[in-house]
Amino acid sequence: MAKQLKLNDYKQQIADVYNRRSHNYDESEWHLRIAHRLVEYAQISPGYDVLDIATGTGHVAIEVAQRVGSSGRVVGVDISTEMLTLARRKVEALSLSNVELQFADAEALNFPVNSFDRILCANAFPLMTDMEAALRQWMQFLKPNGLVGFHALADTALVGVVIWQKVFENYGVSRELSEPTGTVEKCHNLLERAGFEAIEIKTEQYGSYISLEEAKQRWTISSYPAPKFSNTLFQLSPEQLEEIKAEFDAQLQALVTEHGIWNDGTCFFVFGRKGANSITHQ
Ligand SMILES: C[S@@+](CC[C@H](N)C(=O)[O-])C[C@H]1O[C@@H](n2cnc3c(N)ncnc32)[C@H](O)[C@@H]1O
Repeated sequence: MAKQLKLNDYKQQIADVYNRRSHNYDESEWHLRIAHRLVEYAQISPGYDVLDIATGTGHVAIEVAQRVGSSGRVVGVDISTEMLTLARRKVEALSLSNVELQFADAEALNFPVNSFDRILCANAFPLMTDMEAALRQWMQFLKPNGLVGFHALADTALVGVVIWQKVFENYGVSRELSEPTGTVEKCHNLLERAGFEAIEIKTEQYGSYISLEEAKQRWTISSYPAPKFSNTLFQLSPEQLEEIKAEFDAQLQALVTEHGIWNDGTCFFVFGRKGANSITHQ
């Protein structure tokens, strides 16, 4: 864990965000639910070797460890030391001896080829800087016929984010939060380009009505790091930002119904298989 890891500015910012957020991360039912669904879809059998990308506090890693049993093994990697500390505590409390947690960047991993039956990534795939390159890299570590599985949000998901993007687009700021995984077709094309076969995508709705105030809280993504984040946002004057914020609030206000605001939660659970004859080079 004391291993040295050189993170670029974006990744260090992400690590800092999750280091700060770690203390109450496990209070989020959403993340636990998504992680659980991903594991359910992943067809895990006893004895499997599984890599949990961006393991966080270990939601996926722990559930998988219980499913693969003592003849299987789980490796969880993350760039947030605080999230890993919590994961490690939970693993110890459950006396799981088949989980290894590593402080490592998911986009610069170093495992032998053909190591894992499953490579899973819950609640973190859109944080990767280059999703296609990451998938290609992970495919090397999969055994032939192994599955990669990740979860992604639709372009329509999270009303505050959708409206945020809409109002900022007029000022040339695009965070591309759900690109290139915002539709079933985009997810499919991404996996295909990365060389995966037998692609399967399950769509689920986790939406609900929320209050106007809750929706407005999404304004905070203005200060959240994003991989392709241009500096445009920082070049906006305080007056312009105030104007955009007023437009953001007004657009959300216009969406209020007697039940509140519909907060779409369309999620994709995306799986691709490494071909039996795929050639992998180290
Ligand atoms: C929302 S949490 C998800 C954690 C866990 N997978 C879950 O479903 O609860 C996102 C996690 O991704 C990690 N992360 C982001 N980019 C990463 C990267 N390049 N390599 C490893 N971990 C990364 C963060 O540190 C954070 O712990």
